Amino acid sequence: MKVVSLLTLFFVSICAVAEPIHLIPQPVALTEKPGKFTIDAGTHLQTNDPSLQPAAAWFSTQVGTPLPQGKGGKTQIILEVGTMKDRNLLGKEGYVLTITPSTVRIKANEAAGVFYGLQTLLQLTPPETTAASKGPIPIPCAEITDYPRFGWRGLMLDVSRHFFTKQEVERYIDEMVRYKYNTLHLHLSDDQGWRLEIKSLPMLTQKGAWRVARTGARWGEALPALAGEPATEGGFYTQDDMREIIQYAKQRFVTILPEIDIPAHSLAMIASYPNLSCTQLPYPVNAGFRNPTRDDNALCIGNDTVFEVLDKVFTELAALFPSEYIHIGGDEAYKGFWASCPKCKRRMTEEHLNNVDELQSYFVKRMEKMLKSKGKKLIGWDEILEGGLAPEATVMSWRGMKGGITAARMNHQVVMTPWDFCYLDLYQGESAAEPPTYGICRLKDCYTYDPVPDSVEEKYILGGQGNLWTESVPTFRQVEYMTWPRALALAEVYWSPRSARSWDGFTSRMEHEFQRLDASNIKYARSAYNVIFTPKKADRDFTVSMSTEVSGLDIYYTFDNTNPDPYYPKYDGTPLKFPLGATQLNVITYRNGHPIGAQVNIKKDELAKRLDQGRHVY
Ligand code: ACM
Ligand code: ZN
Repeated sequence: MKVVSLLTLFFVSICAVAEPIHLIPQPVALTEKPGKFTIDAGTHLQTNDPSLQPAAAWFSTQVGTPLPQGKGGKTQIILEVGTMKDRNLLGKEGYVLTITPSTVRIKANEAAGVFYGLQTLLQLTPPETTAASKGPIPIPCAEITDYPRFGWRGLMLDVSRHFFTKQEVERYIDEMVRYKYNTLHLHLSDDQGWRLEIKSLPMLTQKGAWRVARTGARWGEALPALAGEPATEGGFYTQDDMREIIQYAKQRFVTILPEIDIPAHSLAMIASYPNLSCTQLPYPVNAGFRNPTRDDNALCIGNDTVFEVLDKVFTELAALFPSEYIHIGGDEAYKGFWASCPKCKRRMTEEHLNNVDELQSYFVKRMEKMLKSKGKKLIGWDEILEGGLAPEATVMSWRGMKGGITAARMNHQVVMTPWDFCYLDLYQGESAAEPPTYGICRLKDCYTYDPVPDSVEEKYILGGQGNLWTESVPTFRQVEYMTWPRALALAEVYWSPRSARSWDGFTSRMEHEFQRLDASNIKYARSAYNVIFTPKKADRDFTVSMSTEVSGLDIYYTFDNTNPDPYYPKYDGTPLKFPLGATQLNVITYRNGHPIGAQVNIKKDELAKRLDQGRHVY
């Protein structure tokens, strides 16, 4: 007996030293080695090229004690570019990270690769490590070779429906680069607010950036402005602010992709300059959320003034943003006003356009030429396919993968953001336990999606994004809650080899990462621990089955309106029937005897309603 206990103790202590490595996204190749490296006051940081200075300085701020730069020191972190024999393996963003007890070495072709190697190194520190850490930091020895599957790994933040400050956008950049995202798409204009200073069109921000303040209202539900009520809610980025964001992003190898959403979703622009719409009616941009079939939120394509104004907007945009692409939106245009507008009808006759889809296509093609003349490429939502795709346009596929597949088959480049796998504004778990929104896009939907459909050549898929629309996201804490952990899943989809993906492996690494997010005060959702209800018709009534996304949880339940715990019935997988008289099912998940999910109370009526609805309608 004694020998067995001693052996157990021995193995437990071995395991405690060799904690398995948890990385997100999972690298291409990882070999764990014995021993550890320790970052402490005797560690020097050495670089072989001035281009590595910003990354080195940044790393030094992430581990508490600033590290002296240059040769020497008891131990070294050595950052190198240009020393790889085979450049092809790592590309622009790959790296090789070697950790021995005396030296950490990161080799890459370019500074971006070194930066990603440093992000991996940070994830190898204990999860409680932050910029405020004190004392030595142990890192397990390992050899890692890593590079991304896709060159476009993005998140989109809608700063129109709710405005987020420069500091909040910069914090978002800091959060996304932890997981090797390299593109931040800013949705800078929509019906609810214009967010970028355009010097030649001052009304866009004097008027278009502000609306009346409303609390707790979702789109379509906001109380209209009261007579004489001042528009106090909103904000915008000055061009100086935006230059600072761009620079901040650049130092972290992130490209800011600006979107000005036209020809529809343009109420903020029309409210600022009413002559730009077909009806030319004044629209106050003050009521929050409007229905485009009632309001003329599209630009008049027959009016040359519209193109003159857009030329001013895009001249300033092209000068400000270094990105190769500009996003012109193009989605969800209600075309009814064009059909009856004399100017639009004249344009259709003159340009031999057969219908309003072709009128939209004319608009997008003209925008492509305009952007090209300013040295930029056009990208737009997949509606730009309707009526004929502009010759060199890149398509951002959001209404599923279909638009992306069509575009790729026409040899156009595609960024995948299908809403049912990539929309971070949708419910991420049981709606009864979430702040109100719509649809459903679970963590597992994000994780199990693949951006390259079987029928398409991978070379046309630049990569993908997670998109956070903010109609129901009024605070930056809620931005974080909606983003994480779904964007952890998407980070792995866009970076890691398809073959490296494993759901259980991911959830276990994610839970480890939660400790790191906690240490950094980054909010995240624990919705994947909540129960999923699946009602099914049975006789004249229905049954309900229950499951969870994270495996290995126990579900306790009751129909008697009290709060379940482990002394209540445990769900065994058999579909349940509501007992006679019961109107509500209360459930909670546990792991190893401890509660882990939220208690969810759901009415029988609510489950009955879902019987006839598809997966995406809650
Ligand atoms: C979109 O979600 N309307 C692009
Ligand atoms: Zn018109």
